[in-house]
Formats: sequence, C-alpha cells, structure tokens
Amino acid sequence: IDKLQPATRLLAHYDANARALPWRRPPGSPPPDPYVVWLSEVMLQQTTVATVKPRFRRFIQRWPTIEGLAAAEDEAILSEWAGLGYYARARNLIACAREVVRRGGFPQTESELRSLPGLGEYTAAAIAAIAFGEQATVIDTNVARVIARYHGIDRPLVEARADIRVLAEGMTPPDRAGDYAQAMMDLGATICRPKQPDCPNCPLSSECQAWATGSPERFPAPKVK
Ligand code: ADE
Repeated sequence: IDKLQPATRLLAHYDANARALPWRRPPGSPPPDPYVVWLSEVMLQQTTVATVKPRFRRFIQRWPTIEGLAAAEDEAILSEWAGLGYYARARNLIACAREVVRRGGFPQTESELRSLPGLGEYTAAAIAAIAFGEQATVIDTNVARVIARYHGIDRPLVEARADIRVLAEGMTPPDRAGDYAQAMMDLGATICRPKQPDCPNCPLSSECQAWATGSPERFPAPKVK
C-alpha cells in the first residue's frame, strides 16, 4: 500500500476513518445536494466543526431547500445565524441563495460558482469537488499545513501560498474528488494537527518530508508577526 499514490492511500484511510458529520455522506456515496455542501462550508469557514454540527441541523430542518431559504425573511435568517458570528457571512448567504434560485440552481463548475455573490475560492472548489465531482483542489488552513509538511515547506504559509497551491493541485486525483477533499480536511483536523501531529497513524507519513526530519511540528514556519 505504501507504493500507491498518496491520494490512493489517503482515500483508503478515509474509507475506514471518515468522520460522520451531518452534512456528509459515507465515503463512496453519491454526491450530496449542493445546497447542503454550500451551507455547511460557509458555516465551517470561521466556525469549528463542533459548533457547526447542531446549528447546521437546525438550519437544514428549518429550510430544507435553497428555494425555502431564498424565500425567507432576512430577519429570520439573520436570527437563525446568530452565534455563528460574522454577520457579513449571513448577508452574503441570503444574497447568494436568492441568486442561485434566480438562476434555477447552482452552477456546476468551480469557475461559474465563483460568479455567485460572496462565494470565494475555497467555497467554489469545495462545492465543485464535493457536490459535482470536479477535480477541484480545496485548500483551507488545515489542508495547507498537510501539503506544507508532506513537501517539507518550512516557510510561513502566507509566503508559500502559490507553491502550496501548485503542489496541492498536483496531488488531487481525478476520481472521488469530493471524498479526497474531505479526507484532506479530516487529516488536517485529526492527524496532521498543528501541535503534536499523530504521524504514526498518518497514511502519508511514508513520504512526508516533515516527518522525515523528526520535527514535523516545525512545518510550516509560524506566522511572521
Ligand atoms: N471543514 C470545512 N469543511 C469541512 C468538511 N467538509 N468536512 C470536515 N471538515 C471541514
């Protein structure tokens, strides 16, 4: 198994260890509703998984479809969002929901998704990969750390952004794009943690440059203050 591509090893690990999350289907399932992916990824951008879980469930119960959300009063949505922080995100959410409904549904490619109000690089890639199976590369802070360690990049993330993107794109498999994206996120959250990474249990450790140095925590370099 060590001889396989890193993406293949990561997916095998995900098949056995994927976290069960309310917005997620089990590994290998048909893709979830883009509305579910969009809503969860927007919530998760600045809020932890633990906080998002119950809030996501409530929100989806109240507005099971994007049509329902788009038709709701601003005040109702903003009060349901309260506590998730970043009021601007809820405002963007409302604008985006209405635009999607106006267009008759979510566009299905990363580049068209970017044309929706407030929908950035990360969210577009996540929806394209997870809901539509596009070979899009999803990079958040956790994923960037995984890539930096695997390739032994010891510069601060802000300086290495462009390099990390190229390396991350080179590792993204053509198949199971959504599972791969979420496997990378899980790896960053549960194994390739900022402090005390659990390298002995990591499916990528055999080729990980940071692990090979014996001090994986030192990758990437801390933020320059
Ligand atoms: N963090 C952001 N998006 C996530 C996802 N889809 N699964 C797990 N963690 C995440």
